[in-house]
Amino acid sequence: MLITQQNMFRHFWYPVMPTHLLDAGSPQAFRLLGEDIVLWKVGDGRYASMEDRCCHRTAKLSMGWLENDRIVCGYHGWAYDCTGQCVSMPQSPEAVKIPYKVKSHLTDVRYGYVWVCLEPDPINTIPVLEEDGAPGFRLIHEFYEPCRASGLRLMENFFDFSHTSFVHKGTFGNMVDATPRKTEIEETEHGIVLRGDVPVLNADEHIQRVVRDQGVESVRHMVSNWYMPFMRKSQITYPNGLIHSLVTSATPIDDERSMLCQWIYRNDTEAEVSAADCIEMDRRITNEDILILEGLDHDVPLAPANAEEAHMYTDRPGLAMRRRLLKMLEARGEKEVRTPRNLARYGIRVETVSA
Ligand code: FES
Ligand SMILES: [Fe+2]
Repeated sequence: MLITQQNMFRHFWYPVMPTHLLDAGSPQAFRLLGEDIVLWKVGDGRYASMEDRCCHRTAKLSMGWLENDRIVCGYHGWAYDCTGQCVSMPQSPEAVKIPYKVKSHLTDVRYGYVWVCLEPDPINTIPVLEEDGAPGFRLIHEFYEPCRASGLRLMENFFDFSHTSFVHKGTFGNMVDATPRKTEIEETEHGIVLRGDVPVLNADEHIQRVVRDQGVESVRHMVSNWYMPFMRKSQITYPNGLIHSLVTSATPIDDERSMLCQWIYRNDTEAEVSAADCIEMDRRITNEDILILEGLDHDVPLAPANAEEAHMYTDRPGLAMRRRLLKMLEARGEKEVRTPRNLARYGIRVETVSA
């Protein structure tokens, strides 16, 4: 599936940029689903998102500046309000009603991020995270960085309890006990919930300190929520009662790349384990994932009827995601779009072929 060519994904909310990057008062560029957008802060605490393309001569509005709640194009000075309406042309100061507009997008603010939906009719809502603001929980922002992996590959990886033994052998993977435990998958309105236990080996003193467990061998109880299409929350509960909930959005930059937006919730305090230590542990683990994920084919097949990939027991969550997305696409009258290379290599027959 090539996500930039499936219109459906334009109708989801995505966390796009931490608010603090916009609070300094400069417009910022982002590429969402292959589309260049500009984000900026409007005076009353709201944030605006619109096409990063001036309707005069296509200049990047993100190269302009803000003036009185308007964004000013750096090429000839046309100014736009937060709805995308051109409200000022220095070359025609007498113009009262200017008939030019750029497309603007829905925005919202949650969890320290500006969220954007490219179309005016979102098909999801921004996920409600029970830990956020709950007594005893703290929020730690971890990563905001691009990676060369598609959103669905990242999501499947987070719900694949087999990879941990091998990919994470340097941090918590247990290669000795790689036989998967039984897991339960429940379909929900927002995606799926996966529940299960994962045996781990806390590899060194740093990991043991962050999980507040002196032992090497341990078991993580996992409750992982997939929020369609590219967000997860993996709530890890350790035997000592520590909860470490990882929230990750693989916000789609284009078909091959995602912006990794990750934050965590923990039910302990800075005095017990520092935020820096938590971030460092998840840095090590995330680096292990990214190394593998950046080598995978970004074009994940949704339709099961071919021999492109082989599957095993622990792939069930990923396959449930594929089925769910395919069903949604079909319900909207969309065909799955694949790369010509994969269509040729695997003799796949679909009616829609990417350019
Ligand atoms: S290109 Fe923006 S004002 Fe001319
Ligand atoms: Fe992993």
